[in-house]
Amino acid sequence: MPRLLALSGSLRARSSNGAVLRSALELFDGPTATADIGALPHFNPDLDGEDATPPAPVAALRTAVAGADALLVVSPEYAHGVPGVLKNALDWLVSSGECVGKPVAVITASPSPTGGDHANAQLRETLRMMTGNVIADACRELPAIGPKIDPTAERVADEPTLTDLRTAMSHLAAATTPATPAGPLTTP
Ligand SMILES: Cc1cc2nc3c(=O)[nH]c(=O)nc-3n(C[C@H](O)[C@H](O)[C@H](O)COP(=O)(O)O)c2cc1C
Repeated sequence: MPRLLALSGSLRARSSNGAVLRSALELFDGPTATADIGALPHFNPDLDGEDATPPAPVAALRTAVAGADALLVVSPEYAHGVPGVLKNALDWLVSSGECVGKPVAVITASPSPTGGDHANAQLRETLRMMTGNVIADACRELPAIGPKIDPTAERVADEPTLTDLRTAMSHLAAATTPATPAGPLTTP
């Protein structure tokens, strides 16, 4: 079964995108894990050259991405852009190659009617530039997300949204070939 690693662009404890992420992972047919990207240092190529040893959180993230068969990126939009913490994580992955050819789904959720469409488009563009395999049928912009979240369960509670997420995750799984033999799915 394909192994899925998720990254969230929100560090908020009560994040609506975190709730979307958890619901999406529960609808994916295969092992899943979530990367903690909040402790990554700011990207600095000086720390990442041929003679440098990458910082431990960076090495852990790269190991986790390498051990996954597909990626799920779930994020809010800030000022019509990608949250800095998420762009920072992707910057650490640009030249190390773990994303190359890997199926990726991008989901943005927002209280606004646009569903974070600017951030969604920017993330897809960045991931395509990184030669990730962005699966368009698995990407979603989720508008007016607030009332669709159950704050106690910290999951999506809205049935049409859950149905849509199930469809998105099945498209991602269908586009993913599990590695043989499958290694461990680690969490940085
Ligand atoms: C500084 C800031 C900028 C924001 N900019 C946008 C924006 O450009 N577009 C948008 O749809 N929502 C914007 N929002 C609203 C976020 O989508 C909203 O706070 C959302 O709940 C954050 O996601 P989270 O619940 O997963 O943390 C912004 C929020 C903040 C705090």
